[in-house]
Amino acid sequence: MTTTTPGPPALRTAVGTARTRVEGREKVTGTARYAGEIPFADLAHGWLVLSPITRGRIRDIDTAPVLAMPGVLTVLHHGNAPRLYTDYVGMLGTPPDPAAVVFQHDKVPFAGWPVALVVAETPEEAREAAETLAVTYDREPHSTVLTADDPDAYPAAGFMPAATEKGDLQGRLASSAVVLDEEYTTPEEQHSMMEPHAATARWEGGRLEVVDSNQGAGWVQSELATLFSLDASSVRVRSEHIGGGFGSKGLRAHQVSAVMAATALRRPVRVVLTRRQTFSLAGYRSPTTQRVRLGADADADGRLRALDHRSLNQTSTVYEFVEPSAGVARVLYDADAHRTANHVVRLDVPSPTWMRAPGEAPGSFAIESALDELAERAGIDPVELRLRNEPETGPVSGLPFSSNNLAACLREGARRFGWADRDPRPGIRYDGRWLLGTGMAAASFGAGAMPSTALVTAKASGSYTVRIAAADIGTGARTALTLIAADALETTPERVHVRIGDSDFGPAMIAGGSMGTRSWAWAVTAAATELRERLAVTQDIPPEGITVRSDTTEALGALAQKERHSFGAQFAEVAVDTSSGEIRVRRMLGIFAAGRIVNPLTARNQLVGGMTWGISMALHEEAVRDRNTGRHYSPDLAGYHVATHADVPDIEADWVDDHDPDDPIGIKGVGEIGIVGAAAAVANAVWHATGVRHRNLPIRPDRVLAAAALPPSDSGPADA
Ligand code: MOS
Repeated sequence: MTTTTPGPPALRTAVGTARTRVEGREKVTGTARYAGEIPFADLAHGWLVLSPITRGRIRDIDTAPVLAMPGVLTVLHHGNAPRLYTDYVGMLGTPPDPAAVVFQHDKVPFAGWPVALVVAETPEEAREAAETLAVTYDREPHSTVLTADDPDAYPAAGFMPAATEKGDLQGRLASSAVVLDEEYTTPEEQHSMMEPHAATARWEGGRLEVVDSNQGAGWVQSELATLFSLDASSVRVRSEHIGGGFGSKGLRAHQVSAVMAATALRRPVRVVLTRRQTFSLAGYRSPTTQRVRLGADADADGRLRALDHRSLNQTSTVYEFVEPSAGVARVLYDADAHRTANHVVRLDVPSPTWMRAPGEAPGSFAIESALDELAERAGIDPVELRLRNEPETGPVSGLPFSSNNLAACLREGARRFGWADRDPRPGIRYDGRWLLGTGMAAASFGAGAMPSTALVTAKASGSYTVRIAAADIGTGARTALTLIAADALETTPERVHVRIGDSDFGPAMIAGGSMGTRSWAWAVTAAATELRERLAVTQDIPPEGITVRSDTTEALGALAQKERHSFGAQFAEVAVDTSSGEIRVRRMLGIFAAGRIVNPLTARNQLVGGMTWGISMALHEEAVRDRNTGRHYSPDLAGYHVATHADVPDIEADWVDDHDPDDPIGIKGVGEIGIVGAAAAVANAVWHATGVRHRNLPIRPDRVLAAAALPPSDSGPADA
């Protein structure tokens, strides 16, 4: 930036305008470097060895033959690895997952547990040696199958109360004219981010430096400092470009093992997870079984009198992760009697974790399918049923909504989709061999902000540098923050340079919980606003520039308690071939109320990406585990199907005016709302097409075929 005497910039017009990614050229030309491809002198390569057994103990690791192999430098395992400090709760309120804290004992709690790291001069040598390493185990019996009535299930809180209850549920169910009691299941789902996890660790000038692919450089930095008992200032984590995260990119075995090896060898060490390794080491969405009971009014006005949503997910024996699927019912619908509960059961499986819209994604499949079934039984239009049941205040909390524009989404979506022309009768529309149907679902996802710090510097050249430990995991966050800063500085985006992904920039929220952009934007706006005010009274900018630092901890602490959520309405049209079992989504429309939209281009990317994932969730995705071995069948992208372009012919996302009144910019967040309700909309459309309810995801061809043998409006195939 060389111009020093610009004309007056158009003030505060950047936010809300469509901008391509500021790093877009670097990405499409391949000059943007990801963690696994940044060169380091004297780099050694680690390869993780994972347990093939599902439960037991390591009896012996025979390292001698492997250490004699070409290029092999060391083998780390529980017999020689340093003991780490694990008795803490991290910045996100969670303890470290023991699956990430590698080589601390000889126990094996699940298949794919990391038992050793082989380090060699090249990745090929490390891999060859890792595949040669002889590890013997003592096996123990295992249990890896989630069942709805597991007696060991227990209620568990995951960032929300385990259970909520008001009113007389049994009484209200008994007196309701229309009652529904159904079970819904969702399978194990994998993040399948394009860039697998990768970290390079090295000691440089007395500091541990880790170049890593993660959703929060400061988060991983603080975890590593604590685990290795290092002063926080002596650890630096950098994460410039990230090829997808979706909840999986936090503290994982690759960073911890890389740090151990770099420390032992006194040279840089890189550890990259293979696609197959991500299936057990990077977290996943737990399968769920969910029971929903609904009771509606006797005069058939469709008011819910009873709502009961109970969810169960699996977790590992070493880490409690709750997929809070029943939480979405605490926001969307009220009822005189209202009960929700999240349960977990510990199995000999890898630890699940956050995955895009944790809770809401599977939870909305259950509750929004159930609403559709209730609409059918009550003879009420599904859009109308939701409009009639819009809560005035938080159904459980009683708190006011910051803003709730679900009704606007429903109405605008219905208008644009052409819902008014819909014949509600199922199983009657043919297009050649295809049966056609349409379906819809409502969506909500929490909107919040977390404390963050930002540094904004005015340079003598007339340009500005923003530094914040934000992460752009493909969302366009870097670009959004450029627009935010330009408006707050009352300058143009071309004069703003945003630097992110470096823990040295100070504490900041991770890219997660749909809270990244809002949290960072708040901090950037605070610093930029103060800087602009200071510049108004400052004549000269010194050569080093003028820097203002912000911290939003206090401002966020002063926020009133409210129900803060994004909302949405999803609409889908499907074609079902009941002779082949094939389902095609012909078109999909999502209308969202997700606060102020910072960059329409990348926000649309986020929403369409989420909706596409919803199609995938409805029809394709399922990680299957062999109950005898406890291991996955084909843990790779050949065996695990995700939606591709051919599955998404016509998909559109748009939004209604919405504004969070307590946010300086009005942002809510768009990261997760796009997937919520999407699978239910598709499943509801499949019912409308065929007359058969599918309550078990994914709706595979074999399930369609099994159902086709049944008469319409039957409750669908029993599924093993
Ligand atoms: Mo998200 S599941 O908070 O990355």
